[in-house]
Amino acid sequence: MTNFDNVPNRRSPNKLNKWTWYPKDVLPMWVADMDFPAPKPILNELRKAVDQGVLGYELPSSVLKETVAARMDYLYGWKVKPEAVEAVTGIVSGFSVAARIACTPKKGVLFQTPVYNEFHEVKNNVGIPQLDAPLVKHVDGNILSYEIDWDIFEKQVKKAGIFLLCNPHNPLGIIFSRKDLIRMAEICIKSKVLIVSDEIHSELLLDGNKFTPMAKLSPEIAKNTITLIAPSKTFNVPGLFCGFAIIPDNELRQRYQKEVSRLRLHVSSMGLFASHIAFSGQCDGWLKDLRTYLTGNRNFLAEYVTRYMPDVKMTIPDATYLGWLDFTQTAIDGSPFEFFLKNAKVAVSEGKIFGKEGEGHVRLNFGTSRKILEQGLERMRKAL
Ligand SMILES: Cc1ncc(COP(=O)(O)O)c(C=O)c1O
Repeated sequence: MTNFDNVPNRRSPNKLNKWTWYPKDVLPMWVADMDFPAPKPILNELRKAVDQGVLGYELPSSVLKETVAARMDYLYGWKVKPEAVEAVTGIVSGFSVAARIACTPKKGVLFQTPVYNEFHEVKNNVGIPQLDAPLVKHVDGNILSYEIDWDIFEKQVKKAGIFLLCNPHNPLGIIFSRKDLIRMAEICIKSKVLIVSDEIHSELLLDGNKFTPMAKLSPEIAKNTITLIAPSKTFNVPGLFCGFAIIPDNELRQRYQKEVSRLRLHVSSMGLFASHIAFSGQCDGWLKDLRTYLTGNRNFLAEYVTRYMPDVKMTIPDATYLGWLDFTQTAIDGSPFEFFLKNAKVAVSEGKIFGKEGEGHVRLNFGTSRKILEQGLERMRKAL
C-alpha cells in the first residue's frame, strides 16, 4: 500500500508554486496538482534520463503512440489506431488548437458552466464568442448536484463551432452518464458542431466508479470528436506538460496536426518519457491506492462539512480530487475565497473564475494528506 500520509515540502524560496504563491502562513488548497510524489516507475524513468545525461530533443515515438492506444483498449475496450494519437503540450493547448481550427468569429466555443477557468480564456485567446450552457443546480439537504438544461444546450449549440466538454467535470466532479453523453453528441452532430472532450480527470475515479470516453460510444461520435487525455492529473506530473489528442478522423487530424505544427507546440522530452511509463500500466498499483486514499479524503471532507459546517453545501464528486462548496447560505458577506484567505489562512480557488454561477462558491483541492486536509478544514470552520 502506497503511503500518502507524508507529503514532501515544496516551500523553497527560489520556487514559485502553490505552496509559495501566498505568504508562509497560508495553507494552499487551490491549483489542481496534488501534494504527493509521482509513482516510482515514472521517477525512475526520469532519473534514468538524467543519469544518461543528454537531454536532447525527443519526438513522440510510434511506441509511445501504441502505448497510448493500448491503454484506451485496456481501460475501455476502445480501439484507437496509434496514428490517431497526436502529442500536445498539455490539454489547455490541446483544446485551444481545436478552437482555432473549428471556430470562427461567428461560431464560438460552447461549454457547461461553472467549469474549469481555462475554458473561459479560449474566447480571448482565439478571438471567438463564448457560449455558456449553465448546469442547473439542485440542493438536497447539504448536498449539491447539477444537471444539464437541454433547452439551453440546444439553443447555444446552434451558435457553436466546438462543444468543449469537461468529463469528468472540473470543478463539479460529475461523470456524465452514457445517456447524457449520447444526447449531447447527437445534438452536436445534428448541428455540425465538433466535440472536444477534455478527459484529463478520467482516471481519477472515486469509489468504484467507471468511465466511458465520449468517442467510445459510437463510430459516428468518434469521427466527430477530439479526445484529450494526459497522465498529468492522474499521476501528478502536470509540470511536465504532455498530453494527447486522439483524433480518429483522418481529415480532421491532418488539420489539427497542421495547426500544432504551425504553432510550434513542441512537447518536452521528460513529458514524453513520463507518459510512456504512466500509460504502460506500471503505475496502476499506485493508482489503485491513490483512488482509495482520495475516496477517503472525499468522504472525510463530506462528513466534516455536514457535521461542522451545516450551512455549507457541497457536491459529492464521483471523480477528481476537487470539492465544490457553496457558501451562499452562510453569514459570509462577499467572496468566500477572500474570507478564508484572510480569516483562515487557507487558499482555495475562487468560485467566480469558473463562471458567474460560481459566485459564493469555492473549489477545494483535497489531493493532499488527510492531516493537511483536516488542518485546512479546521481553520475554515474556526473562521466561519
Ligand atoms: C479539465 C482540465 N483540463 C485541463 C487542465 C490542465 O491541462 P494542462 O496542464 O495539460 O494544460 C486541467 C487542470 O486543472 C483541468 O482541470
